[in-house]
Amino acid sequence: MNETIVNVANLNVHFGSAHVLRDVSFALATGTTIGVVGESGSGKSTLAKTLVGTVPASDGEVWVDGLDVRHATRRQLADYRRRTQMIPQDPFSSLSPRRTIGQTLAEAIEPGRGRVRPHRERIVDWLERVGLAGSMMDRYPHEFSGGQRQRIAIARGLIVDPTLVIADEITSALDVSVQSQILELLAEIRDTLGLTMMFISHNLAVVQRVSDEVLVLYRGVVVERGPVAQIFNDPKHWYTRSLLEADPGSPGFTLDATALDAERSMASTPRGKASHQ
Ligand SMILES: Nc1ncnc2c1ncn2[C@@H]1O[C@H](COP(=O)(O)OP(=O)(O)O)[C@@H](O)[C@H]1O
Ligand SMILES: [Mg+2]
Repeated sequence: MNETIVNVANLNVHFGSAHVLRDVSFALATGTTIGVVGESGSGKSTLAKTLVGTVPASDGEVWVDGLDVRHATRRQLADYRRRTQMIPQDPFSSLSPRRTIGQTLAEAIEPGRGRVRPHRERIVDWLERVGLAGSMMDRYPHEFSGGQRQRIAIARGLIVDPTLVIADEITSALDVSVQSQILELLAEIRDTLGLTMMFISHNLAVVQRVSDEVLVLYRGVVVERGPVAQIFNDPKHWYTRSLLEADPGSPGFTLDATALDAERSMASTPRGKASHQ
């Protein structure tokens, strides 16, 4: 069990003269979730793209699922990208408006074909797993709400049985109450299937809900990393503490829509020293 599936060592990424990731190192064990948190521009999406091989590293090691991603061949990468699924932030722009949901899911299973009939059962199964009805497979993206589209995006990512799932800000565009439903759903599926996941968000409370371990990124540097409880209850770095203070939903909050809404409305009230649990 718990073999290492992702191993990143001293990863550096430059965009021209901008040094966007600096000496990033971490490992991820099968069946666990690593949360990546940091404000906008800290390099979270770049880290995700380096893992899936769409952004080249300047130096360092990136091993995922036994593949040396930096030195993989085209063909190895093509196969690898099916095993490593990215769930996007904005499913509306990534779901084709002209395809039914069934066709989109079929296309994920069988790229370039999109024949629904041979995959009908699997598509219905996945729509139901994400809390939608199988009959919705004949509808188009515009007929769904933002939360439903995010459920569809989750189904599309998971229907191919990926070895690694990367969720990049998947709840950022959603209302707070819908956010919590999507997180609950993802956590439940993760537990049922034993998914291995990188979960990215600028919101520490969101990361807390689903992660076993957390990396805190600040301007491309991992300033703190450790088990989720340690990061929340005993943050060592000033930047982590500032994220906690800026975030009314944490620490010690449990993910419940009502509690979350209550916390949000209290956000303007200054907090004393946080009490845990
Ligand atoms: N393709 C790119 N070319 C040049 N700069 C980029 C590119 N992608 C991201 N950046 C820069 O890299 C930094 C990190 O971006 P990103 O990884 O998207 O951060 P985050 O996802 O944490 O918001 C930012 O300063 C961003 O402007
Ligand atoms: Mg990003």
